[in-house]
Amino acid sequence: MKRRFENSLSPVSKKLKNNDEICGRKGSMLADCSNIMLNSPPVTPEKRRFVDIRDDSEGKESAKKKLSFITPPATPQKCRETSVYSKAKALFQRGSNHTGSTGSSHLVGRESEAEALNEFCLSNIRKGVSNSLYICGPPGTGKSAQVDVSFQYLSQSVGRSQSSHVSTIEGKKVKFIRVNCMPISKPESIFHEIYCALNPSDKLSVSYTKRKTEDDLFSLLSQGSDVDSAVILLDEMDCLITRDQQVLFQLFNLASERKNSSFKTNIILVCISNALDLMDKFLPILKRNALSPQALPFLPYAADQIKRIIVSKLQLLRGSEQDKENIPPAMGPPIMHPAAIQLCCRKSGSVTGDLRKAFDICYKSIEMVEMSLTNQKEPTQYTVETAPKVQISHIAKVCQNSFANNMNSQLDNLNLLQKTVLCCLVVHERNNCASIFNRVELTVNFFYDVYVKISKDHFAGLLGAVKKSEFLEIISTLEASSAVVISATKHSRNDSMDLGGKLVKANISFDALLKCTNDIGILRNLLHSSAH
Ligand SMILES: Nc1ncnc2c1ncn2[C@@H]1O[C@H](COP(=O)(O)OP(=O)(O)OP(=O)(O)O)[C@@H](O)[C@H]1O
Ligand SMILES: [Mg+2]
Repeated sequence: MKRRFENSLSPVSKKLKNNDEICGRKGSMLADCSNIMLNSPPVTPEKRRFVDIRDDSEGKESAKKKLSFITPPATPQKCRETSVYSKAKALFQRGSNHTGSTGSSHLVGRESEAEALNEFCLSNIRKGVSNSLYICGPPGTGKSAQVDVSFQYLSQSVGRSQSSHVSTIEGKKVKFIRVNCMPISKPESIFHEIYCALNPSDKLSVSYTKRKTEDDLFSLLSQGSDVDSAVILLDEMDCLITRDQQVLFQLFNLASERKNSSFKTNIILVCISNALDLMDKFLPILKRNALSPQALPFLPYAADQIKRIIVSKLQLLRGSEQDKENIPPAMGPPIMHPAAIQLCCRKSGSVTGDLRKAFDICYKSIEMVEMSLTNQKEPTQYTVETAPKVQISHIAKVCQNSFANNMNSQLDNLNLLQKTVLCCLVVHERNNCASIFNRVELTVNFFYDVYVKISKDHFAGLLGAVKKSEFLEIISTLEASSAVVISATKHSRNDSMDLGGKLVKANISFDALLKCTNDIGILRNLLHSSAH
C-alpha cells in the first residue's frame, strides 16, 4: 500500500519528499526548504482532472480514502453525413480544385494553350536555354489555373519530383518557382524574391543583409545555383510596371538567351498579365533591345467551353458513387438539368466569358434547390441520381437577382449630379409618355435644354450650373454604368463621335430610381411630382 501511494505521487510531491530528507525534518509539513524549492523549474500545467474520492475502506482495517485521478472523457464527435448538394457546391466554390484529377496536363477547354505552354517549358529545359513567355487575357479565363496545372504536370508526371519544388526532367535538375507580384510593394524587390527562391539556404542570411538587386541575381545565375533551369511564374505581372518599365525590361533581359548564354542556371520566365495592350506599349522597347518574348493569349471562354467545364465538374460527383452502388452510367450530368447548364453558360459567356461568374451562378442555384427541399426530405437522403435537379427557372432567378443587385450597387455609386441628370431624364420621359402624340425621340443636345429648364424650375440656386461639356461627361458615365442607353439617330452613324447628336433613353425603372434617391429630398420631390 505504501509503495502504491509513493508511485502515485506527483513529481512535485516527490521533490517535496526528497527535500524533507535533505533537510532532515521528516514529518514536518512546512519544512523550511524554500531555497531549494525556488531552484526547481516550473511544472508544466497539466490537463484539468477530476478528483475521485471513493471509500475504499470496506473490509479493511484502516479507513484511508484512495485518491485517483481520472482524465475526463473526450467529447463525442458528431459523425455528419455530407449531402450531395454540399459536395456539388464545393465544386463551384471559389478556390476549389481546378481539375479534380492529378497528372492531367491541361484544364478542360484549355487544351491548345496548355500544349503551347508545356512545349515551351519542355523544349527550353531540354535545350538548356533561357527564354520568356507572356500570357495575357481577361480575368477568370484560367491563366493562373492552367500554369499551376502545367507546373504540376511537368514536375510530377513528366519529371521525377525530388522535393516540393525541384524535379529531374530528362536528366536536368529543374526548379519551379511561383511568385505573385501583387503583394510586392516595390517592383525592384522582385529580384530579391527570385534570388531567395533560387537560393533558399541563403534565405536567412539574405534577410539580415541588404536586399538583393538585379546584379546579385545576375551573379548567382552566372555562377549557377544548385539547379540547371529555373521555371519562374510571375503572376499579376502588371504590378511590376514602373513609369520607365525598367524592372520589366531587366527581367526579360535576364531571361534572354542571346544576352546571357553563359548562365549556369537558365531562366525560363512565364509572365501573366490582364493587360492585353501591355505588349503593344512595351514591345517597341523590347524590340529595340533585341528582346521578343513569345505571347500566348487566353481568350474569354465561349459558352460551349463553359458548358464542358461545368459538365466535367458535375461528373466528378458520380465517380465514386457509381463504383459503390453499381449505377449504370447515366446520360445527362447530375444535379443540374442540361437546359439549365445551357442557360447559365449563355448568360455568363455573353457577359464577359469569366468562369468565376458561371461558377457563382451554379453555386447559388444549387443552394436554391437545396433550400427548397428542407420541408420534404433531408438533403442527405438523396443520392447523385435521385437528387432533384437545378432547372432553368432557378438559373433565371439567380441571374435576375445578381444583375439587379449589380444595377443597384452601380446606382448607389453615382454622385448627386449624375443622379440628378438621371432623374430629369426619367421625369421627362414620363411626362412625354403621358401624351402619346407628343412623343419624340430625345437627342442628348435636346435633353441638355430639358435638363437646364427642369433644374431652373425645381432646384433654382441649389445646384450650380452645369456646362455642356460637363453634361456630356455625365451622360457618358451614366452610359458606362448602364443607367442610360445611347443610340444613333436615323441620320447619324453609329460610330459618329458626336455624342450630342445621339439619342438617349433611360435604362432604369422608375421604382429602382426612387429607391436609390429616397434619401435625397430634392430628387424625391421631383420624382413624386411627375408621378401625379
Ligand atoms: N478550364 C477550367 N476548368 C476548371 N476550372 C477552371 C478552369 N479555368 C478556370 N477555372 C477556375 O476558375 C477560377 C478562375 O481562374 P484563374 O484564377 O485561373 O483565372 P485568371 O485568368 O488567372 O484570372 P485573373 O486574371 O483574375 O487572375 C479558378 O477558381 C479556377 O480554378
Ligand atoms: Mg490569375
